[in-house]
Amino acid sequence: VNDRPDGLNRFAELRSQLAQLRDGGQVIGLVPTMGALHAGHAALIERARADCNAVVVSIFVNPIQFDRRDDYDAYTIDLAKDVEFCAALGADFVFAPSAPEMYPEPASTFVEVAGVSAHLCGKFRPGHFRGVATVVAKLFNIIAPHKAYFGEKDAQQLAVIERMVADLNMPIEIVSVLTVREPDGLAVSSRNSRLTGEERQAAAALYQALKIGEDCIRKGWTSAAQVRSAALAHLQQPPWRVEYLEVVDASSMTPVAQVAGPVRIAAAAWLGAVRLIDNVRVDKIQT
Ligand code: PAF
Repeated sequence: VNDRPDGLNRFAELRSQLAQLRDGGQVIGLVPTMGALHAGHAALIERARADCNAVVVSIFVNPIQFDRRDDYDAYTIDLAKDVEFCAALGADFVFAPSAPEMYPEPASTFVEVAGVSAHLCGKFRPGHFRGVATVVAKLFNIIAPHKAYFGEKDAQQLAVIERMVADLNMPIEIVSVLTVREPDGLAVSSRNSRLTGEERQAAAALYQALKIGEDCIRKGWTSAAQVRSAALAHLQQPPWRVEYLEVVDASSMTPVAQVAGPVRIAAAAWLGAVRLIDNVRVDKIQT
């Protein structure tokens, strides 16, 4: 039922179906996505399927989280294909609102998660995490899931959402799922399909660089600057344009000078017109 242009009835219908399940004691899991579903999303849906009685996958290309118009325009999705993908993995609901349904009027209310969104992608993509946190808060309000699933590939996004949920007392468990990788180590991403053949060959070097940094820390290196240099040396060859490569505290996502506790080595780098991000977490530090 969608007899109002703002989609409110459609939202109300989904809400009431989910409320019935919730009242019947069913656990509801949400997997928020922007469509173009791939093996990384499959891992999230499978995990939600294993944990929950009812799985909702949201598919919404959120305009307010894009800092570049060309990136938004390039984000084309095939909804019918994505719905099939979700059904094959046993999802119970696909929530795919339109932009006017989600934003009937330009938004006046935004969720800003300070600190954790200040560095890395937050520094290079102004407004990105504000857009992510705002849309995820809206999805949480519409679906009211018990659990929500996010990939570690977007580690800063995960940290932003965890912080938002803690700060705003949202009664939702955030579940993180390990990054899914291609056989050569490249993190699976919808952006990978935009790489040329040559760029795709080169792309695995990003993960290799992060692993070099990880090895240095495991060997006992504590200077973040030295770890960075060792990792960056692997990305010296053109055609890489490194936006950032940082050693950050694993929970605050703030760059550290000395490696003392759990960290992530996180990077964003361009191959031609494609921006790739990746990270590795290093928990066990040799002393
Ligand atoms: O990771 C994504 O696909 C998006 O940032 C998310 C979490 C669905 C919000 O639009």
